[in-house]
Amino acid sequence: MTFVSVIVFSALVAGCVCSEQLRFPAWFKFGAASAAYQVEGAWNVSDKGLSTWDKSLHDNSSLVRDKSNGDVACDSYRLWRRDVQMCAELGLDMYRFSISWSRLLPTGFPNLISEDGRNYYNNLIDGLLEKGIEPFVTIYHFDLPQDLQDLGGWANPQIITWFTDYAEVVFSLYADRVKYWVTLNEPFGICDLGYGGKSAPFLYSDKVGRYLCNKHVLMAHAKAYRLYEKQFKPQYNGKLSISNIFFWFLPATPDDQDVTDLTKEYFEGRFGHAIYSKKGGWPPKLEQFLAENSKKEGYPHPRLPPFTSEEVELVRGTYDFYALNHYTSRVVRKAQPGEEVGEWPYTGSKELGIHLDSDPSWNKTAVKWFTVYAEGLRSELHYLNSTYGVKEIIITENGLPTSDDGLADTDRIQYYKGYLEQYKVRSLCSKLHRPKQDTDAARIRTLL
Ligand SMILES: *[C@@H]1O[C@H](CO)[C@@H](O)[C@H](O)[C@H]1NC(C)=O
Ligand SMILES: *[C@@H]1O[C@H](CO)[C@@H](O)[C@H](O)[C@H]1NC(C)=O
Ligand SMILES: *[C@@H]1O[C@H](CO)[C@@H](O)[C@H](O)[C@H]1NC(C)=O
Ligand SMILES: *[C@@H]1O[C@H](CO)[C@@H](O)[C@H](O)[C@H]1NC(C)=O
Repeated sequence: MTFVSVIVFSALVAGCVCSEQLRFPAWFKFGAASAAYQVEGAWNVSDKGLSTWDKSLHDNSSLVRDKSNGDVACDSYRLWRRDVQMCAELGLDMYRFSISWSRLLPTGFPNLISEDGRNYYNNLIDGLLEKGIEPFVTIYHFDLPQDLQDLGGWANPQIITWFTDYAEVVFSLYADRVKYWVTLNEPFGICDLGYGGKSAPFLYSDKVGRYLCNKHVLMAHAKAYRLYEKQFKPQYNGKLSISNIFFWFLPATPDDQDVTDLTKEYFEGRFGHAIYSKKGGWPPKLEQFLAENSKKEGYPHPRLPPFTSEEVELVRGTYDFYALNHYTSRVVRKAQPGEEVGEWPYTGSKELGIHLDSDPSWNKTAVKWFTVYAEGLRSELHYLNSTYGVKEIIITENGLPTSDDGLADTDRIQYYKGYLEQYKVRSLCSKLHRPKQDTDAARIRTLL
């Protein structure tokens, strides 16, 4: 998914009527975002290794409705100069892109650093800086080297070391020029979709694999963060985070409030609480709920692996801003005993025993479950402030799916206008908390 980044704290807002035009102050930064597999193409040039996305779509082209794949994609590996030019023409302040692990490290390990891979990202970073556009780098965006997947991927605790070693190479090559970093994009997507048959590597292990993954993504992020903090931050002073996707959830009736709170912890808290909360670790209610489920099902250990107290401390506080990917909202309703529930995270959850729906008043998009409810963003920013007290939020993705590629893009214009208004109502009308530095940004995803 793509990305708009902005920021920040903000104010109370209920009832804040914004009389101004939708105009943003100079410190507010706009950006666009992409992901390596979605734009680079050049899947087999030079010494690039195979990624899980390359392999999944080569093995089964039916995984994509129109049978397209990323072999060529937007051809950004060849056409990066034009991309940079477009960023400049759009007047962007920032451009977020990801590094392909198997392009930079063809074996997945730092024993071999690809000369071509390294130059490609050097050129892109320098090209952006020449135009005055801030490069914002995602170290990992869903495309694991297939060789590491064959060794167990995100379900193998060794990946904590593999990822940290990879991140160290990335920092040592680019940290002199890159000041904004996301370690992992959407750990929810890596784990819940990757082990729920919905994203590469298209595995089915929603009982166990996805929860092993859940712990390992947090540990990998934290180790990379600590490494940067120790070895690179004193000299370069960049900012790091992890991009969490967060659908907003509303209860269908007042009786559904408790399960809606649990759903938020299940969707976002499993990836955010350990990092952003004052106490760290898993959200306590959710951890207990999942441990009870595991026990009832006869597992001798909780399927969501506990943290040791050292691990809690390692992970806690490993952020410089909250990186938020926000797209849509869902309405939560408890399922009746024995009632069929839909598919996580779109239409329901068996683990939680819930249905997920759209409110009939919300505008529809090209994807059935994806509906437009801009106020959800405002509620979510409020929730992040009150739950974690984070001082700076960068919206690293926001956008909607459409089915026609025409230039008359009115649905997208309405969508962005609606969401930006909600953002602005929350954060700017109050004129509170103007950031000290010009670090705030909104980034719209999909440049190309
Ligand atoms: C953010 O949370 C703090 C502490 O809970 C509160 O004092 C503050 O008013 C909140 N800010 C906004 C903008 O809601
Ligand atoms: C390929 O993907 C389609 C769509 O998800 C699925 O129905 C089919 O079973 C898959 N084929 C194989 C061989 O896995
Ligand atoms: C790379 O893949 C393309 C298909 O995307 C194919 O046409 C080409 O022959 C391949 N090149 C090499 C060197 O294997
Ligand atoms: C919902 O759709 C209507 C009709 O196309 C449009 O006028 C309105 O702006 C849309 N609202 C949002 C929030 O996108």
